[in-house]
Amino acid sequence: MNSWLISALALIVYCCHDALSCPKRCTCHFSTKTTEVVCPDAGLSHFPGEGLPRTTTALTIQFTNLSVLTSKDLKAIPLLEELHLPGNKLSSLPADLLMYVPHLHTIDLTDNELRELPSHVFHHAPLLNLVLKDNRISSIHPDWMPNNSTLSWLDLSGNHLTKFPMAQLQALNHLKVLQISQNKLEELPVGCLDAHPALERLHLDQNKIESLDVKAFSNTANLTHIFLQKNRLESLPPTVFQGLQRLEFVDLQDNRLNSILPGTLDINTSWVELTLNPWHCDAKIEYLWKKLTMETLQSEPKCASPESLKDRVIATLKRKEMGLPE
Ligand SMILES: *[C@@H]1O[C@H](CO)[C@@H](O)[C@H](O)[C@H]1NC(C)=O
Ligand SMILES: *[C@@H]1O[C@H](CO)[C@@H](O)[C@H](O)[C@H]1NC(C)=O
Ligand SMILES: *[C@@H]1O[C@H](CO)[C@@H](O)[C@H](O)[C@H]1NC(C)=O
Ligand SMILES: *[C@@H]1O[C@H](CO)[C@@H](O)[C@H](O)[C@H]1NC(C)=O
Ligand SMILES: *[C@@H]1O[C@H](CO)[C@@H](O)[C@H](O)[C@H]1NC(C)=O
Repeated sequence: MNSWLISALALIVYCCHDALSCPKRCTCHFSTKTTEVVCPDAGLSHFPGEGLPRTTTALTIQFTNLSVLTSKDLKAIPLLEELHLPGNKLSSLPADLLMYVPHLHTIDLTDNELRELPSHVFHHAPLLNLVLKDNRISSIHPDWMPNNSTLSWLDLSGNHLTKFPMAQLQALNHLKVLQISQNKLEELPVGCLDAHPALERLHLDQNKIESLDVKAFSNTANLTHIFLQKNRLESLPPTVFQGLQRLEFVDLQDNRLNSILPGTLDINTSWVELTLNPWHCDAKIEYLWKKLTMETLQSEPKCASPESLKDRVIATLKRKEMGLPE
């Protein structure tokens, strides 16, 4: 064999071995446009740098002992678009994490041990979807996201937030889905959603929210789904849902509502969950009763009081029982 042929063969072996390499403990799927790498091995405790295809577009490392991730790790895979890291042991992230992955649009960090999100942590990449569910986040730096972010889906559910992160979300005016369920929010600051006119789905269930401002949703006309179940709402401003022409579903289950003012549910949907509230069934329940009996609101709330009507389905009450003239 002449030397030219030998080096040509060597080149082919080198190139194709490299292009189709795959790290130990991982599986790799190659197609013409994408390279997906999945590392599900519990024994993994470091970033699987060696053998990671340079063409990797989607990387999943899940349910491993991975506890450190640096921008240098990601530098080896500059074409990365999706990074899925659920169920690992990450407790912090460096400020320059995304420096070398300019195409990254999706990050899932569900079920790690993150406590805070430092300055600049999600700068440098055009993120659209960011899932930070089930961590221990109690602190978010005001400059964690770039000012020109086009993030559309943010999930901060299952963390330790005690205040609505209003300043931190200010720049995110492309948000369509915002999930802050299962935190410890006690109030929604006035105007806290005003920076998010594109919002369609708002998940605030399982917090400790006691009231809604009358203008809470006045700048979010595209809302279709509002989840407020398992909070401490005692009343609702009667016009709070007015103007939400696209509204499809409101969940108010398991709050502390004992009555509702006329007009509150004159809205563009009949899919409103109202059960597990301590409804007081006297003459003031007439509006809700009418909604339930004449407009087939899709819920079966029951009376909690007075004692004589306890556990009665509101829709089955007779006018006389509510103390109304027949
Ligand atoms: C993961 O780390 C923990 C504690 O550092 C260790 O006890 C455990 O054996 C590790 N798991 C595996 C599969 O290596
Ligand atoms: C982003 O906007 C905020 C508030 O408008 C400003 O204080 C901050 O300096 C800006 N950050 C950058 C990196 O431009
Ligand atoms: C945001 O600004 C940075 C720096 O000016 C730029 O590189 C990036 O492309 C911008 N991102 C978006 C989504 O416009
Ligand atoms: C609201 O939704 C409509 C229809 O999808 C869209 O055209 C409009 O841009 C949205 N508004 C905002 C502020 O995003
Ligand atoms: C919402 O209700 C208003 C008034 O009843 C009606 O004019 C409008 O067409 C409805 N919008 C949708 C999207 O159904």
